[in-house]
Amino acid sequence: MEHIERLKTLRGRRSAWRQAGLRVALVPTMGHLHPGHLSLIREARARADRVVASVFVNPLQFGAGEDFSQYPRTLERDSDMLRDAGCDLLFAPSEAEVYPRGREGQTAIEVPGLCDQLCGASRPGHFRGVATVVAKLLNMVQPEVAIFGEKDFQQLLIIRRLVADLNLPVEIVGAPIVRERDGLAMSSRNSYLNAAERAIAPRLHANLVAAATRLRAGVSCEAVEHETEQALAAAGFEPDYVSVRRRSDLAKPAPAPGTPDDRALIILAAARLGRARLIDNLACDLD
Ligand code: PAJ
Repeated sequence: MEHIERLKTLRGRRSAWRQAGLRVALVPTMGHLHPGHLSLIREARARADRVVASVFVNPLQFGAGEDFSQYPRTLERDSDMLRDAGCDLLFAPSEAEVYPRGREGQTAIEVPGLCDQLCGASRPGHFRGVATVVAKLLNMVQPEVAIFGEKDFQQLLIIRRLVADLNLPVEIVGAPIVRERDGLAMSSRNSYLNAAERAIAPRLHANLVAAATRLRAGVSCEAVEHETEQALAAAGFEPDYVSVRRRSDLAKPAPAPGTPDDRALIILAAARLGRARLIDNLACDLD
């Protein structure tokens, strides 16, 4: 596996692959990799001749007072894991390489509507930073296909929208959430949990499973959202939101019977547990 830090070198490699007619997949990450990330590499392997992973802790997507400076940086270990998973090229640029004019001078991408709700409401500017760096990474690597996890479902929809709205010639593929045995969604931020918090953490997923059962039993979205927030608070979380949305566009579903889109739902939740802000989601089909 090749390890590249400079955009110029990346461009050279990319054009050689293009001349050889090779199909390229990109898996963008912020590093501190776990099996969830590696599942995206496997998905990429199955869809392309060459797999590029990027590791870049993007300052633009962290708000003031968030964990940018503490975010775990484990590049050597990440590099070994990527090589073993069959990645061909690790692109790990410096901040100066990605934002040569500085963070403030950077042209930014806004995705109206989707960016300001759910996680965007409590993390102002977060999705603007995500959309901007993903657009840049897509332009730097110019992959035929890019893989993103459904773990960050709102992020996945925002990326699909920006690619459609800006006519970027890339296919966006979503990959299922990889969980620990006890149901906790794998996340780089799980390393912030102490032993007591780690024991509570799987309740987030368990409560989403219970919420899906209640929705399918005909309980209203509002009631399910409310009782799930209560249950999370009782378990020791500080819930940020629990919200039942349409999977297609994250809009609130119309009451039954609605359209097929109003019955293909997703329950999304974010909650603080100690130093960590955990997110999770679960699909729920009403038919
Ligand atoms: P990061 O949190 O490192 O995640 C990188 C990719 O891995 C994202 O597409 C995310 O959805 C996926 N992922 C994380 N945990 C997962 C799990 N348990 N199962 C399946 N997929 C999982 O998301 C980001 O980085 C950044 O916002 C980024 C897109 C790289 C832009 O900076």
